[in-house]
Amino acid sequence: MPDGGSLAFFDLSAAEEESFRDAVLEGLARPQKAIPCKFLYDAKGSALFAKICKLPEYYPTRTEIGILEKNALEIARRFGRGCRLIDLGGGESRKARILLQALENPAAYVPVDISRDHLFEAAKCVAADFPFLPVIAVCADYTGPFALPPLPGGEGKRVGFFPGSTIGNFEPHRAEVFLAQCARLLGRGGEMLIGVDLKKRKDVLDCAYNDCQGVTALFTLNLFARINRELSGDLDLARYRHLAFYNEALGRIEIYIESLCDQDARVAGRRIRFARGERIHTEYSYKYTLGEFAALARRAGFAALAAWTDASLLFSVHHLRAEGDALRA
Ligand code: AVI
Repeated sequence: MPDGGSLAFFDLSAAEEESFRDAVLEGLARPQKAIPCKFLYDAKGSALFAKICKLPEYYPTRTEIGILEKNALEIARRFGRGCRLIDLGGGESRKARILLQALENPAAYVPVDISRDHLFEAAKCVAADFPFLPVIAVCADYTGPFALPPLPGGEGKRVGFFPGSTIGNFEPHRAEVFLAQCARLLGRGGEMLIGVDLKKRKDVLDCAYNDCQGVTALFTLNLFARINRELSGDLDLARYRHLAFYNEALGRIEIYIESLCDQDARVAGRRIRFARGERIHTEYSYKYTLGEFAALARRAGFAALAAWTDASLLFSVHHLRAEGDALRA
C-alpha cells in the first residue's frame, strides 16, 4: 500500500442482494405488513435522511458530533498509535473525520458500505483530505458476516466505528447477533466505538420523528414512492400517512405507513388490499439506558470500557473491547 492519499477499493458485495421486489411482495403479503428499513435509503431517501439529520427536532446527529468533538482526544488516547479505523456504514465521514483528526498516526481508514457509489465518493474525499492515510474502501453488506481484506499496520488495534445509533434500528436480539459478528470481525482485543440513542421523555422522542416541516414523513412515504418508481406501483400517496410514536413499554420508536381508507393498489403486477387504519411497518428505533446497552454489548462478547454522553443525557457513545465467547463461534 503506497503512502500519500492512496485509495483501494474492494467489492465484496454478493451478486445476489435481496431484491427490493421480493422483499416488498413478501412483506406486503404478511398479516402485519412490513418492509425492511434498509429499503428506505435509495438516492432520494438518503438525501431526505441527510435533511432529517439537520432538523431542529432531530437531536441525535448534532448531539453525537458534540460528544465526539468534546472527547476526541481521550478517545484517541484509548485507541493508541497506528490503529485501523473500520467505519461501518462509511458514508458519514463527518464523524469519522473528527476521529481521524485526533488519532495518532492511524494506519488505515476502512469505510464499509453496501452503496458502491456513495462509498466511493466518500472514500475519495477522505483520501484527498488525509494525504498520508491509506483509505481502503470495502463495498459489503456489513449487517451480515464478511471478511476484511489485509490491512496495513499489523501492530495497531482494529477499531470498529458505528455511529448514528443505527444499532437502534435492529431489534435487540438482532443487535446482539450483529455486535457478536463485529467482535469476530475485529478479533480479540479489537475495539469498538458505537453511538447509541438514550431513553428519554416521550414528547422529545415523538417530536424527533414527527418534525414540523414534514421531512420525516416524506422520508417514510418515499418507500411507497420508490415502489411506484421501481415496481410499477400505483399507490396513491395522498391516501397514506406517516405515523411515528414512542412505545414507552418497549423502549422504541415505531414507524408505519398508515392507510387512510379501504383501498387496493397494484405492485409489480399483484393487487394488494389495504384496510382503513391498517399500518405497514417500516422502522423501529430502539432507545437504551447506559446500563441496558452495556449489558447487551457484554452478551455479544464485548467488555464495556467507557461511555460518554452530552450534559442533557440525550445520546451516548460507548467504547467496547472484543473478548469472550463470541470470538470462538
Ligand atoms: C438511521 N437511524 C439511526 C435513524 C433513527 O433515528 O432511527 C433513522 C430515522 N428514521 C426516521 N428518522 C430517523
